[in-house]
Amino acid sequence: MKASVTKALGKGFVVEEIDLADPIGREVRVQVQASGLCHSDLSVATFIGGEFPVVLGHEVAGIVTEIGPQVTQVKVGDHVVGSLIQYCGACTNCLSGHTHLCLNPDATLRTAEQAPRLSWNGAPVAQGMGLGGFAQETLIHENQLAVVPDEMPWAPAALIGCGVLTGAGAVLNSADVRHGQSVVIMGAGGVGLNAISGARIAGADTIVVTDVEDGKLERAKAFGATHVVNSRTADPVEAVRDITGAGADHVFDFVGIRPVTAQGMQMLGKGGGLYLIGVGTNDAGIDVSALTALSNSQRVQGVYMGSSNLKRDIPFYASMYLQGRMNLDGLVSREIGLADIEAGYESLKDGRTARVVITDFS
Ligand SMILES: NC(=O)c1ccc[n+]([C@@H]2O[C@H](COP(=O)([O-])OP(=O)(O)OC[C@H]3O[C@@H](n4cnc5c(N)ncnc54)[C@H](O)[C@@H]3O)[C@@H](O)[C@H]2O)c1
Ligand SMILES: [Zn+2]
Ligand SMILES: [Zn+2]
Repeated sequence: MKASVTKALGKGFVVEEIDLADPIGREVRVQVQASGLCHSDLSVATFIGGEFPVVLGHEVAGIVTEIGPQVTQVKVGDHVVGSLIQYCGACTNCLSGHTHLCLNPDATLRTAEQAPRLSWNGAPVAQGMGLGGFAQETLIHENQLAVVPDEMPWAPAALIGCGVLTGAGAVLNSADVRHGQSVVIMGAGGVGLNAISGARIAGADTIVVTDVEDGKLERAKAFGATHVVNSRTADPVEAVRDITGAGADHVFDFVGIRPVTAQGMQMLGKGGGLYLIGVGTNDAGIDVSALTALSNSQRVQGVYMGSSNLKRDIPFYASMYLQGRMNLDGLVSREIGLADIEAGYESLKDGRTARVVITDFS
């Protein structure tokens, strides 16, 4: 089968003919129909590194074509969406419902003693995040897959697996935003936009979005922001205080640059929460004054993958989309072929592009 292989750090994405093993245990063979370009894969390929050669791609949707002998949760013909959340289903965190905090996430991968899922000229090829979606086909553990309705279109379905789970989940799961509350979303990129959708579903009254590009702020309005602030031309802390009066109930940081995160803390009202999601620079983080935080009962929380439970949340967002209650079409700016990943990432630098999705695997 054809797959886009990253052979070494900085070596880009090159389509090659590689081999896919047969499914064993709880593995599912998926014929990929759509694969989103998330920024994290580009970071792995260009500066973070890891195992090479590797097939990346972790926003993946497709059709089940074969199942391993122990698979019970999906069947041939199902339409599925993958997620990078790996969980065992048996540790104390999984058993208490917090699968995103699994203590044994490697349970969804093959062991070192087993033959690899992917190989090229007889040598092993790594599979990014247990998914390897930049390929015509892939093998995924059933715990990393959720079934969605057949009528769900492929490109928006793929995006649910990372950007949507993260953005909407931060609002709905991690912060548990309540109707009537005020929310600030810093950074209206491919993830932050889904936080706007999450805030609408939660019934937030005030949804303020900050960004540094007017084009992104226009899109944020189309997604349902009640107020937008360009933090290059206005002081975002003053603007949020003017809009909310007493300060915000929840501030979500999708930017992850120290001065921006510090501004987020200053936007909070009494009892408010600041959620750290983006990592824009290596030193991303915040110094918190204990005195200010305790006298205002404020909290700072790191958020991994929107505290999502993928088996519950992926079908939920698909349902919200099919009911017309969640904008996913507005995320898909461009559809490309498997050979065009590098050009696709390049086009993400343009402020008019939200997300790029591979839908042609020929
Ligand atoms: N915590 C998690 O589990 C998790 C999961 C997925 C992604 N992420 C992270 O979430 C972040 C957002 O991802 P994305 O795909 O939306 O990225 P993106 O680059 O599309 O969005 C970031 C946005 O921030 C804006 N921005 C830059 N400087 C700003 C400033 N000073 N004030 C306000 N806005 C500013 C940019 O214009 C852009 O629109 C990334 O850092 C990504 O790595 C975290
Ligand atoms: Zn991602
Ligand atoms: Zn577990």
